[in-house]
Amino acid sequence: MATDNIGITISNHLLLNQQLTEGATGSYTRLLQALVLACKIIQRDVAKAGLVDILGRAGTVNVQGEEVQKLDELANNTVKRRLSASGEVCGLVSEEEADIIEIPRQYPQGGYVVHFDPLDGSSNIDANVSIGTIFSIYRRVTEPSNDINLQDALQPGLKQVGAGYVIYGSSCILVFSTGQGVNGFTLDPSIGEFLLSHPNIKTPNKGKIYSINEGNYGYWDEPTKNYVDWLKNGYADHKIHYTARYVGSLVADFHRNLLYGGIFLYPADLKDPKKPQGKLRLMCEANPLAYIVEQAGGRASTGKERILEVEPRYIHQRTPLIIGSPDDVRVYEEFVEGKRG
Ligand code: AHG
Ligand code: MN
Ligand code: MN
Repeated sequence: MATDNIGITISNHLLLNQQLTEGATGSYTRLLQALVLACKIIQRDVAKAGLVDILGRAGTVNVQGEEVQKLDELANNTVKRRLSASGEVCGLVSEEEADIIEIPRQYPQGGYVVHFDPLDGSSNIDANVSIGTIFSIYRRVTEPSNDINLQDALQPGLKQVGAGYVIYGSSCILVFSTGQGVNGFTLDPSIGEFLLSHPNIKTPNKGKIYSINEGNYGYWDEPTKNYVDWLKNGYADHKIHYTARYVGSLVADFHRNLLYGGIFLYPADLKDPKKPQGKLRLMCEANPLAYIVEQAGGRASTGKERILEVEPRYIHQRTPLIIGSPDDVRVYEEFVEGKRG
């Protein structure tokens, strides 16, 4: 594996892995390279956001009923354009669009379907807080001669053939897995290349950080309230002091916990009757991060069920997400099971 070649470019990392993969045709490599290019373009737009007046509300409302910011639209269009032009996808599903995005006829129809969150944490754009892009890759399951259909788009997370995210923060880091471990690449803006900086990421079995929006405490179910109370009384109860960290950008909260250890929770809450399963989306947020965290030795569940085994019923399905160090996620699940209280 190319994981010990610190500083290798992501392009060479992908080509090396393609050479090591029996029967690889280069199709998957071309798809990933198109994604890398899209993320470089988004990083450029994010970096200059404050300068070219693309900050602020674009005035439209997306399928989630949320105000779309100009950078959301730019990121969404960039991913659509670059992945369509790769000729490797037969359909796309964006958090920003209601339906499956068909590939313009001038491009070949490829064998992959990609779900993506073009800009995660977009409410943080104007405050210059880290935001990101998340993607999740499946092979199509229907006949190549037919148009893509819901069967291709609604596959459980276990069927992913790759997933990843980019954080546009103090540095721009791309973290992804194709099923053989997790690698992180940092963008060197002076040469415009992502270089391997975090080979073979493994998350600690247990952490001391918990991430949850405590403003929603009054809307949580009892097991969640009991778990967070237990964490906060931690030193008295179990001699471990947990620190609260919450950025409000899923990719930033997830990435910190992946490296340092800890647990992130966005449970179902009763705040919004339209979102009884919580705010986060199964297909473009929970599944890709669950794939990554399991590849890094972590755990991801709804509290009751492994995220990767959730059967999707519709493309913008929401889900509770409890994710991070396996021992911490297990403790939460024991509160849900009534084994702890
Ligand atoms: P997005 O910007 O793609 O809609 O995602 C925002 C999500 C996620 O990034 C973050 O974890 C969560 O919203 C924060 O929600 P709260 O502000 O309700 O805590
Ligand atoms: Mn998001
Ligand atoms: Mn988003």
